[in-house]
Amino acid sequence: MTTLENRTVLVTGAAGGIGGEIVRQLVAAGADVIAADATPESLEAITAATGARALAFDLRSEEAVRAAIEGLDLYGVVNCAGWGGLVQPTTEADIDIFDTVMSINTRGTLLVTKYATREMIRLGRGGAIVNISSQAGLVALLGHVSYGASKAAVDSITRVSALELGRYGIRVNAVNPTVVMTPMSASYWGQPEIEEPFLAAMPLGRWATEADIAAPVVFLLGDGASMITGVSLPIDGGYTSV
Ligand SMILES: NC(=O)c1ccc[n+]([C@@H]2O[C@H](COP(=O)([O-])OP(=O)(O)OC[C@H]3O[C@@H](n4cnc5c(N)ncnc54)[C@H](O)[C@@H]3O)[C@@H](O)[C@H]2O)c1
Repeated sequence: MTTLENRTVLVTGAAGGIGGEIVRQLVAAGADVIAADATPESLEAITAATGARALAFDLRSEEAVRAAIEGLDLYGVVNCAGWGGLVQPTTEADIDIFDTVMSINTRGTLLVTKYATREMIRLGRGGAIVNISSQAGLVALLGHVSYGASKAAVDSITRVSALELGRYGIRVNAVNPTVVMTPMSASYWGQPEIEEPFLAAMPLGRWATEADIAAPVVFLLGDGASMITGVSLPIDGGYTSV
């Protein structure tokens, strides 16, 4: 018997690498999962593999977010949709990239939280939210000015919403992963001159897997974490602790 049995959890970014693994682990934990991403086509594989329900919307549109979420009976949310932008020094920062990164990572997280928590409050059964932030929100990483700002803002949204929603029994936490070596990450972090010194400075000395991220997310959603709210939990092999 798991604590997520029959609880409905909305996962954004469910067609992606980390989001897909979160859907798989939540379904395995007994949750009723709504897998959300930008298009219905992108969700076909994960819903066919897990039995999760598909919900397509673009989280850059407030109206699309409202229409998708209004009326859902939700216990929990995982805000996992995101975009890495480009690795650029601050002197070269492309402000259109900054705006897009902020609109997906930060504004999207706020919009989903806004409409999902209205439904959670309406149901009156408490609940839990986990925001997928990043190590880049906690420490300075070269070239990550836009992405780091977007994730530091996600950590702030986490703390403020935890403060406001505690009275409804709704917990809000973030996790701050290190790099998961997806093809997109590999183009930057896979370069030996970037990878080797970074891993040498990390106590565990390896990149994260999707499963390394999903398991703590499932824990934070469940009753085992019933006294934990407002935290940003590094899943970073110790990188930000030294
Ligand atoms: N991969 C890493 O190294 C890493 C490290 C730390 C944190 N993260 C964070 O983890 C989360 C998932 O990353 P991932 O590596 O699985 O990336 P991914 O690109 O595989 O998945 C991201 C998903 O978000 C969706 N998405 C993007 N814009 C959207 C929009 N406007 N509307 C709806 N959906 C949208 C994409 O379609 C995609 O399926 C992101 O928030 C990312 O910032 C990733």
